[in-house]
Amino acid sequence: SVPAGGKQDCRAGEEAGIVRMAAAKVNLSLQIIGKRPDGYHELESLVVFADFGDRLSFRPSATVSLQVAGPFAAALKDTKENLVLRAAGGLLAGATFEGNPPGAAIRLEKGLPVAAGLGGGSADAAAAIDGLLALWKLPIEPEKLFELARSLGADVPVCLHGQASIMRGVGEVIDPAPELPDFSLLLVNPGAALATPNVFRARQGAFSKVTDWPESFADLKSFVATLEGRPNDLEAAAISLQPSVREVLDRLEALPNCVLARMSGSGASCFGLFATLQEARHGEAALQVARPEWWVRAAACRRQ
Ligand code: C5P
Repeated sequence: SVPAGGKQDCRAGEEAGIVRMAAAKVNLSLQIIGKRPDGYHELESLVVFADFGDRLSFRPSATVSLQVAGPFAAALKDTKENLVLRAAGGLLAGATFEGNPPGAAIRLEKGLPVAAGLGGGSADAAAAIDGLLALWKLPIEPEKLFELARSLGADVPVCLHGQASIMRGVGEVIDPAPELPDFSLLLVNPGAALATPNVFRARQGAFSKVTDWPESFADLKSFVATLEGRPNDLEAAAISLQPSVREVLDRLEALPNCVLARMSGSGASCFGLFATLQEARHGEAALQVARPEWWVRAAACRRQ
């Protein structure tokens, strides 16, 4: 297993090689504050990471290849287009080599649902950048890495950063999150994929106005009160495209000790917020019985 920090480098000769965890990204808030001429939306989002996600391993090889395995492998139809390979290509394009460029045999164990609002593809891309840098020992400046991350997708920079953050702009402005109280998450996906551009397109109504975040919170109650004033502005649009999101939210809200139920990213995954992991696990067990076909996962929030 990969340690909490998500990094593990094995000595040469050991099977696993370099291992990175691509943690699930959860948008605790997501406010849309405007639209740019290029069609992207300006947003403000409190992003945290679960201690659960996809797992990537990297071994030296003559060429770059990607093997996908795990519970959600079948949902990734076109491996050639995978962000992991685009990240590898971007790294190689940004460096010069004497002789042949290095290769890597990459294995991706897909534990996160795909097109689900948990940033799986973005987290994989970020983990690929991090893991391949370690494997290839490339001297690339942080600004260039950030630029590559940005070119791969709006959520890739924050996933590369990997810490609880306030994300702004279209994802490229990343500030540290306020000091957060302890809480755990119950992640739920109803088995419906939602394409991010469609959800943004379906969004209606005025843009949100945002105010400054407090530096810290007295307790979970005051944190939840703040989050209630900072919703996910894509929730209504996602429900209009995929009504099962409404049922997920209703079932989360009805769970004992669930203090907030909300959609993450552009959906369809939602999260319930609980004071403890034990409470989240009780909710996980209850939902598994009520809706056995849903993907349900209790997870701690990765500490900053
Ligand atoms: O950058 P990424 O590929 O993740 O974005 C997918 C789509 O989501 C974009 O093409 C755009 O339609 C929408 N999007 C947006 N504003 C953002 C992020 C994504 O409109 N800040």
